[in-house]
Amino acid sequence: MYKIIDGKKLAAEMRVSIKSNVEEFKSKSGKDIGLAVVLVGDNPASQVYVRNKIKACEEVGIKSYAYYLSAETSQEELEDLLRGLAVDDNINGILVQLPLPKHLDAGRALKLIPDSKDVDGFSPNNIGKLCMNSESLVACTPNGVMKMLEAEHIDLKGKNAVVVGRSNIVGRPMAMLLLNADATVTICHSKTKNLKEQCLKADVLVAAIGKSKFIKADMIKDGAIVIDVGMNRDENGKLCGDVDFENLKEKCSYITPVPGGVGPMTITMLMYNTYIAATRS
Ligand code: GUN
Repeated sequence: MYKIIDGKKLAAEMRVSIKSNVEEFKSKSGKDIGLAVVLVGDNPASQVYVRNKIKACEEVGIKSYAYYLSAETSQEELEDLLRGLAVDDNINGILVQLPLPKHLDAGRALKLIPDSKDVDGFSPNNIGKLCMNSESLVACTPNGVMKMLEAEHIDLKGKNAVVVGRSNIVGRPMAMLLLNADATVTICHSKTKNLKEQCLKADVLVAAIGKSKFIKADMIKDGAIVIDVGMNRDENGKLCGDVDFENLKEKCSYITPVPGGVGPMTITMLMYNTYIAATRS
């Protein structure tokens, strides 16, 4: 018998508590909390994400500052904006929605975001702190996964955790968080030779691949905890994850659905990070 970890419900509960923390901060400090969201170009998926981020800010009482820049924006224009936001006292967090249009250098632009306002947890210092298991702003999606595991009282100590995917946004920070929670961690990727064998060892499997229904029933062991970070469209255009949910759910002890799993947690963790950034400012 498997249990579905309901990310939508947990995210809603967390937003209630973040909202009350935000209210308390505002009344004690007399200051607002501000999040700047920068979107360059007209990528439809990014537009949806940004809209949802702004909606979440409204829900928890964080003031959002949205910057919609044209697809033709130059590196210099983007960098000028970020330099301004970096020193603006009204702004506690800065998020540049990725991917940026191809002519822009994301690495160079993101360097202009101070570590203290890096609510995505992407800066080398914040990633370094995460690797050293010391306090930092942590990437939202993997941090959201950890909150889901915590909410189910899943003890990761000594468990075999396998992360499939090594992106800077999900796979790598996810592996570090699992390591910090005392799991034994394996990172698999496109060049891994014995992927199925590696996955079969997983007590906890995190799929962050970006390929529809890639993880099949014969790739997981009985009783595995399966976390699906994927957000894809299947052959009928329906939203689906990286995990073949219907065919493998019966083998799991816990599984996250798509939609309604990790997705809603990501934006909630962004609200959490923005609140934390404000309390440290
Ligand atoms: N694009 C896809 N995921 C993310 C994210 O977590 N943060 C930002 N800034 N861009 C993204």
